[in-house]
Amino acid sequence: KLPKNVTIKEVGPRDGLQNEKQLVLSEDKIAWINSLSETGLSYIEVSSFVNPKWIPQLADASDVLKGIKRNKGVTYAALVPNIKGLDRALEAGIDEVSVFMSASEGHNRSNINKSIGETYPVLEEVVKEAKMAGKTVRGYVSTVIACPYDGYVKPAQVREVADRLFSMGIDELSLGETIGVGVPNQVERLLDELLPHFNASQLAMHFHDTRGTALANIVKSLEMGITTFDSALGGLGGCPYAKGASGNVATEDLLYMLHEMGIDTGIDLNLALKSAQLIERTLGKSLKSRQMEILRAE
Ligand code: HMG
Ligand code: MG
Repeated sequence: KLPKNVTIKEVGPRDGLQNEKQLVLSEDKIAWINSLSETGLSYIEVSSFVNPKWIPQLADASDVLKGIKRNKGVTYAALVPNIKGLDRALEAGIDEVSVFMSASEGHNRSNINKSIGETYPVLEEVVKEAKMAGKTVRGYVSTVIACPYDGYVKPAQVREVADRLFSMGIDELSLGETIGVGVPNQVERLLDELLPHFNASQLAMHFHDTRGTALANIVKSLEMGITTFDSALGGLGGCPYAKGASGNVATEDLLYMLHEMGIDTGIDLNLALKSAQLIERTLGKSLKSRQMEILRAE
């Protein structure tokens, strides 16, 4: 049985722009986020308060967060890797903090320069301090199906990281299929491992669409009771520390499918497409989504 409502979390300004070679001006990011805020989205990941040497594309996180016109119905979130990032995010007025790590050692080390064991105490402190500041916290676990360095990842490894993050007090966990190799029966195995232990309402799925399997994986997740999905307008995205990873599932393609399935998202597809055209003009390249291709052909 399929859900009647689904929450879409737009990660384009973060996951999307972190993977673009060109630097986008803060004012252009602000204009894009302002247009996203008017589409009916309830959640936008605006940037990352990571080490700007690692992700120069998002070095202006504070300026962007301070510059946007806030819509009361939208939660504005950002990635935070450590206390330094948390201090910057709180100072800039973040609503929700996202901590992140991987289920595999290879990607964790390449992405955040630490082993999994070294990462837990860092995140634990961030979660504790963020909660003390009255913020909700989202956790991300990457490489939930496969790692670009270590190969296939066992569902039990994902469960262990999930256990640790939930015991720190995170409110929601997003399961990252970082490199987009997964297929529905692998998603089923993963959720079979997790759902006896965690509420479906506390899990979100974050699919990259490298091999075109993201929508199929989303349908499988929906059938298993998941109702929150991350996506990026225009299919932007990818992790610079995961070779071969390409964009997130495109928000507009996900919206089309869900709405035609009779599932409500609260988001206006036409306004989302207008917002995609805005960032398309800014980036000066054609965005890779079916809905944008159709629009260009009209
Ligand atoms: P490090 O270089 O090992 O950190 O980075 P460090 O603690 O040794 O510090 C080195 C320098 O960085 C110091 O400055 C710090 O002050 C500074 P120095 O003394 O040399 O002048 N620094 C910072 N500055 C500003 N803000 C900060 C900060 N932290 C340290 N927050 C660290 C460790 C984790 C910070 C680094 O590896 C990093 O920033 N990594 C982020 C990588 C990243 O953003 N990856 C992409 C996001 S994850 C993703 O895309 C996956 C996801 O989408 C889900 C999926 O698809 O699977 C979420
Ligand atoms: Mg991602």
